[in-house]
Amino acid sequence: MMRTLNICMAVTLSIVWLAIGAQARETKQKMKTEKQAFGKLPDGTPVDLYTLTNANGIEMKVMTYGGIVISLKTPDRNGKLEDIVLGYDNLQGYLDKTPYFGALIGRYGNRIGKARFTLNGKTYQLPKNDGENTLHGGLKGFDKVVWTAKPVKAKDGAALELTYVSKDGEEGFPGNLSVRVVYTLNNKNEWRIDYTATTDKDTVVNLTQHSYFNLAAGGAANNLGHEIYLNADRFTPVDKGLIPTGELRAVKGTPMDFTKPMTIGAHIDDNYDQLQLAGGYDHNWVLNKKGNSLSLAARVYEPTTGRVLEVSTTEPGIQFYAGNFLDGTITGKGGKVYVKRYGFCLETQHFPDSPNQPSFPSTTLKPGQKYATTTVYKFSAK
Ligand code: GLA
Repeated sequence: MMRTLNICMAVTLSIVWLAIGAQARETKQKMKTEKQAFGKLPDGTPVDLYTLTNANGIEMKVMTYGGIVISLKTPDRNGKLEDIVLGYDNLQGYLDKTPYFGALIGRYGNRIGKARFTLNGKTYQLPKNDGENTLHGGLKGFDKVVWTAKPVKAKDGAALELTYVSKDGEEGFPGNLSVRVVYTLNNKNEWRIDYTATTDKDTVVNLTQHSYFNLAAGGAANNLGHEIYLNADRFTPVDKGLIPTGELRAVKGTPMDFTKPMTIGAHIDDNYDQLQLAGGYDHNWVLNKKGNSLSLAARVYEPTTGRVLEVSTTEPGIQFYAGNFLDGTITGKGGKVYVKRYGFCLETQHFPDSPNQPSFPSTTLKPGQKYATTTVYKFSAK
């Protein structure tokens, strides 16, 4: 009797053990990082494409040019995987014309007023690429350089390391800046981005990611039905060049109030000074937080597909850009025409123009210090 019981137990245990082993193997097989060639720059520099897949089948394609995420497939409420980011089918599209689709942005994400700043008494002149101002790092920012890529081990998921050394004086910024960005697609269905940088001279740094999302995966002609929540009681109003005035304005009672979920379309065309100046939402919100812990910044829900995107960050601000400048002149992936407000961006960041705004959190990086920020985009559906 006892003996039969023991045998039964041993058999059950072995089956459980085998099942766990098989599951682990299956998870491992699903989780992978693959590399392929993706074309060449006009000067012959090769560009590679990496495909990261997590254990649940979420798939992200990243190219070494600009660290650009060219596709990101996540499930809707019925488990259907679809691409939720804007971009092109091939490298040439990105070389010809792109409003920063999917790109890594540096050295300075967002705008620097009058294309200059002063640090330690010295004024640095930057290229003007947005009226009188510098936008997203200048004429050849980090979105237009080829990064060195290497798959790296992650505890729970597939990960890719991207590195780039920006030379002292590049685009007018001081210091040799060594940048490392790790994209991890983990099995909690999160795309985690860890940014680090060091310098050999005092400089300014503000790195971000410029993916344009449409959680309806191209099912609608614009993003106006997406519901947005922003964990921010204040935002930084701007002038007509979209440079912050220095004020931190309360969102309460204005169309900028996303402290309760509201569709993008509900008030975007209201007759409110800030919306008129920017042509819609294109502002930095001041996140409600103490210190620089990783905390929830935004949540987006798309009712027709049920997709939810949650953004957490260690950064103090987030630029919510509603794709106001998309105007139908770009034909993207699968022949889709990107009309006004087709995609939206949630760019975690320090505030725009911080190098010229002493009251804003500092973006100065000194030798011996380490710039380190983290942003997590989490995908789910309900
Ligand atoms: C940023 C800016 C926008 C616009 C886009 C690119 O998000 O805030 O004003 O310039 O980049 O088109």
